Amino acid sequence: MVILGIESSCDDTSVALLDCSSVGYVILSEKTASQIEIHKKYGGVVPEIAGRLHAEKITPLIEEILKDQPKPDVIAVTSGPGLITGLIVGVEAARTLSYAWNIPLIAVNHLEGHIYSVELTPNQKIEYPAIALVVSGGHTEITQINEPGIYKLLGHTKDDAAGECFDKVAKLLDLEYPGGPQISKLAETGKTDAINFPRPMMKENNFDFSFSGLKTSALYWLQKNKLSAHKIIPYELPTGVYGQKQNDPTREDFCASFEQAIVDVLVHKTIKAVKETNPKTLILAGGVSANKKLRETLAQTISQEFPETNFVYPELKYCMDNAAMIAVAGNYQAKKNNFTSWQEIKADPNWHLTN
Ligand code: KG4
Ligand code: ZN
Repeated sequence: MVILGIESSCDDTSVALLDCSSVGYVILSEKTASQIEIHKKYGGVVPEIAGRLHAEKITPLIEEILKDQPKPDVIAVTSGPGLITGLIVGVEAARTLSYAWNIPLIAVNHLEGHIYSVELTPNQKIEYPAIALVVSGGHTEITQINEPGIYKLLGHTKDDAAGECFDKVAKLLDLEYPGGPQISKLAETGKTDAINFPRPMMKENNFDFSFSGLKTSALYWLQKNKLSAHKIIPYELPTGVYGQKQNDPTREDFCASFEQAIVDVLVHKTIKAVKETNPKTLILAGGVSANKKLRETLAQTISQEFPETNFVYPELKYCMDNAAMIAVAGNYQAKKNNFTSWQEIKADPNWHLTN
């Protein structure tokens, strides 16, 4: 079955054509138009601009992807959650094609797409029951999956998502959007114990998260220690760019300590879920799954404490938003005949994976 995947829930317009069979997925063609360079100027994604750029890109991308390729049997489109300005562009494009070609349509949940992104790695399959930690710019949640498509939310963030926290703190350091990858790069040469940041909700007996307090504490620390770029306290900075005294924590130490706090909380709660549910597979997915420290810490803990659990995560290129993962999730829905008619499909910015 050939599936056309369409993704436009945030700042990437992505289209992919996949041949899905029982032996695996063959990517016939795929392309993503990133809007990052434009949103960078504003320090984050501007929904109105995102919508306009998706609208500009979607048709040429679909045309390019389908050139010299077989006509798809099914269209899978991200219908939520995400920015409404982006979602409606993808959904309207998919609706039109479904009507014009008379082929079935599948509404895919963006988070389900992230979960199935791990199966884009050849021979990497989710075995059930599974636990998924999905960490992105918009979401941080732990979900139990007992069989494909059946989700039970164990916990989620009460405020900021982990990626959002990375991005906001990066902004305080004057790093460009999205700041997560840059913080983790700087963190590589810093000391993780230089600053004792809080680990919010870590000791609470649940699977929920909270990252806004950590962000505030990072802000206060920067203000108090004047370890910031010119933006925050311009006139108080000494001559050095970051103004630190010789033994004070450096920007790298700050990043390493901050990243460690996020990783500690994510790993602690995920391991708690593994301990309590004994899954065959632990899935790490979403933009923040690109974080090396998070991958390595989870991999090490799982191999030491739960060797029976298979820990999987996507290839780096499929950590970020992409249409191939939407096609894979769509394939599972197609197997269950979970189609939505072109008349009924709707973009739902608040679509929860679990009911
Ligand atoms: O899944 P994604 O592409 O978009 C959403 O669905 O939100 O995730 C983007 C997020 C951004 O917040 C970005 O800073 C974060 O993923 N991110 C990282 C890393 N790479 C991307 N955060 C920490 N470390 C990284 N290496
Ligand atoms: Zn995403």
